[in-house]
Amino acid sequence: MADFPMPRGTCPFGQHPGYAEAAAQGPLTKVSMAHGQIVWFVAGYAETRALFADSRLSVDRTNPGYPGSAGATAEQLANMAETQSFNQLDDPEHAAYRRLAIPSLTVRRVKELRPALQSAVDAIVDDLLVAGPVADLVPALAVPLPSIMLSLLYGIPAEDRPYFEQRVRQAATDRRFGGRALSELSSYLDRLLESKDGDGADLLSGLMSGRRADLVTQRRVLNLALQTLVAGNESTLSMLAMGLLSLLAHRNQWTALVADPSRVPAAVEELLRYLSVADSVPRVALSDVEIAGEVIRAGDGVLLATPAANRDPQTFADPNQLDITRSARHHVAFGYGIHQCVGQNLARATLEIAITTLVTRIPDLHLAVPAEEIQIDGGVGVHRTTRLPVTWTPQ
Ligand code: HEM
Repeated sequence: MADFPMPRGTCPFGQHPGYAEAAAQGPLTKVSMAHGQIVWFVAGYAETRALFADSRLSVDRTNPGYPGSAGATAEQLANMAETQSFNQLDDPEHAAYRRLAIPSLTVRRVKELRPALQSAVDAIVDDLLVAGPVADLVPALAVPLPSIMLSLLYGIPAEDRPYFEQRVRQAATDRRFGGRALSELSSYLDRLLESKDGDGADLLSGLMSGRRADLVTQRRVLNLALQTLVAGNESTLSMLAMGLLSLLAHRNQWTALVADPSRVPAAVEELLRYLSVADSVPRVALSDVEIAGEVIRAGDGVLLATPAANRDPQTFADPNQLDITRSARHHVAFGYGIHQCVGQNLARATLEIAITTLVTRIPDLHLAVPAEEIQIDGGVGVHRTTRLPVTWTPQ
């Protein structure tokens, strides 16, 4: 039985070798985690989707069978229960909170945010062109853009934006002070929530409309605001950095986008599939579930290995190839079912705008170092590159 987490291979774009081995054994295998905890590892696409949609699987991490919770003390479990955000709650409680977040993240609302996102990306690219090559696209674009995206989503007042965005950037990048930045953000958001009357189109106004109607608790509302910030920040940062690295390292894919930028939305779906940056989504079974000839027993932990599901050859032909012409929208990079990513429209828009702007304004952008020299940081959870040196011919 393989240990989990599994080490990544040396190729920045490759599947974990262990995931491919598990997938070769069948759609469901078992892996061994810390404290000797044995959990199911689901690598098949059809099984992953079915289990994402199955209400017998829970997101409640205070259940001792939940992957990674085996060694937790009673005190730690009690603390988890206290601080759980809505993505760690099952329905119907989860739905009451999710309903408050949805209006600020619909396709229509995200369309309204697009001009502001475009201006932000244009300003970043203007700065790059003025400074000239070489540039590192991680600190120049992948780190600041999600913080601006979140400012817009949260309806942060103009005068507070530098404070908010600096701490969002720090939360995602500073190992030493990231925790402190998050706790400062928590106090700030708590105060800002109080000032929202619940009528605005932003996320915090949506949350306060539920709070004022006494549908939800203040503590959970704040947890939701913080958890959404963490979920949106790190995943979008990672997709920007890893997505651009993938396109630049597969030159024919980049050139195809330069020739026809209308292909960018399809390319974003393919990058989401290919990179699957939110890795191995945990669940715990509340009752027995029979699937693919196996029985997941009540209390068993389950890891839905989205990177493996998104490379299942029965669903995606030639899955290890990055191919922006394929139709990949049915990937499970955003999960599936009731917890499917609530920020997916905003993430797609941010990625589309960043990539379209770069392929149109700096078409000869290329890596300044060989792709193999670029280190991937992080194993399980969201992984990313910490630098992305690029160059181009100045005009
Ligand atoms: C490309 C970037 C992103 C990726 C790959 C991603 C991935 C995911 C995945 C796989 C889930 C499902 C987790 C589960 O089933 O337990 C999820 C849920 C979630 N995501 Fe994202 N996400 C991204 C961007 C965002 C953004 C921009 C936001 C908001 C600003 C966001 C907020 C959330 C929230 C709040 C949930 C929990 C939803 C629920 O439990 O109902 N994500 N995301």
